[in-house]
Amino acid sequence: MAHQSIKLKRCLAKYELYQEYISYVEDILNHPEVQRMADFAHHGTTSTLEHVMHVSYYTFFLCKKYGLDARAGARAGLLHDFFLYDWHEKEDPKIVHTLYHPKIALKNAEKYFELSDVEREMILLHMYPVVEGFKQPKYKETQVIQMVDKICAVSEVLKVVPKLVERRLQKIALGEAVSLGLVPVEVHQSRFF
Ligand SMILES: [Fe+2]
Ligand SMILES: [Fe+2]
Repeated sequence: MAHQSIKLKRCLAKYELYQEYISYVEDILNHPEVQRMADFAHHGTTSTLEHVMHVSYYTFFLCKKYGLDARAGARAGLLHDFFLYDWHEKEDPKIVHTLYHPKIALKNAEKYFELSDVEREMILLHMYPVVEGFKQPKYKETQVIQMVDKICAVSEVLKVVPKLVERRLQKIALGEAVSLGLVPVEVHQSRFF
């Protein structure tokens, strides 16, 4: 009985976590321009949309755990690589994309969404130390996204962690969101889900 009640409490906690996460990102996830990120490969076979969803959820989760701005974590995570091209096909040297895509992502994000100062910095400096002038982040949330982005990128290339990410996202956040119609069908039908 006690075991069942602990299980129930855990389920409710996860459900509340998922509800909170979705409440922060619903408008972004359902935006057609954001969905276009599914068309571009990012790391290995992971699309840009899949990558930003990984970064978004884990940044949200860690910000929440450490009493930081979880809303900013969720939203900036989805928007930090909001560039709509396949960077592998660019003729510029790779360093040009590495240096400038945060600016492009921020410009796109500001075009469609209202951003807070924290979200702005998280997007602009997520590639630190590969940022113009080695500009130091002011907010702890930015340090979180910098770390999560790198871990997700390496994991996606090596195909190590996505299974863990998939399990958590499916069970806690987006799996249920799909059944409620909060996540676009196109996203649901992607290989990741
Ligand atoms: Fe990036
Ligand atoms: Fe990224």
